[in-house]
Amino acid sequence: MTQDELKQAVARAAIDYVVDGEIIGVGTGSTANFFIDELGKIKERIKGAVASSEATASRLRGHGIAVFDLNDVESISVYVDGADEIDASGAMIKGGGAALTREKIVASVSGKFVCIADGSKLVETLGTFPLPVEVIPMAAAAVTRRLAALGGQPRLRTRAGSTDAFVTDNGGYILDVAGLSIVDPVALETTINQIVGVIAVGLFAQRGADVCLLGTGEGVRTLRF
Ligand code: A5P
Repeated sequence: MTQDELKQAVARAAIDYVVDGEIIGVGTGSTANFFIDELGKIKERIKGAVASSEATASRLRGHGIAVFDLNDVESISVYVDGADEIDASGAMIKGGGAALTREKIVASVSGKFVCIADGSKLVETLGTFPLPVEVIPMAAAAVTRRLAALGGQPRLRTRAGSTDAFVTDNGGYILDVAGLSIVDPVALETTINQIVGVIAVGLFAQRGADVCLLGTGEGVRTLRF
């Protein structure tokens, strides 16, 4: 099976977690996009969705799914999103697609986080994938120094084919931090959150996944945390 077929398989499996008549939280990225396409097929079963990025909102609308502002929604039962890495405790690195802050916000108000990922995303120790950190632009250099002092090699994310900084949906910059072996994701999440100028860190450990649907050659494995 190709990686896209694995992503499609987990996206289909995640439909089982959709609660009829409710508003669902939807993540960002290529796996989440497959999920949105599956959601489009059953859209009459749901009230709508809260999106974790402008890209996701536009894809949802393209399928005729109502997109709600989080400020108008009291609670979300289920949030479905991909991950760049996930470990055996359900802690994740996210933000490869630059949507980490809104993903974290929507996940924080959701009852259940259903992670959908192809098998390559399951790792023993988080950190091979550079850790994305969203920062206030004027603090980029200061935060870079602080992250380097923690042992990482931060690099400002640039727009494809350009040396200009990539700008997120929130007007922030992204620092991708390589070289971290994250043995205590909960502690590192707290440490990075406390650096002034950081908007959000792409470590989802304090609020990790509750379930991971992992696409493998032998089918979809369900990991519960
Ligand atoms: C978006 O900011 C990310 O958190 C994505 O959810 C994550 O990068 C997984 O993306 P893919 O499904 O494209 O691998």
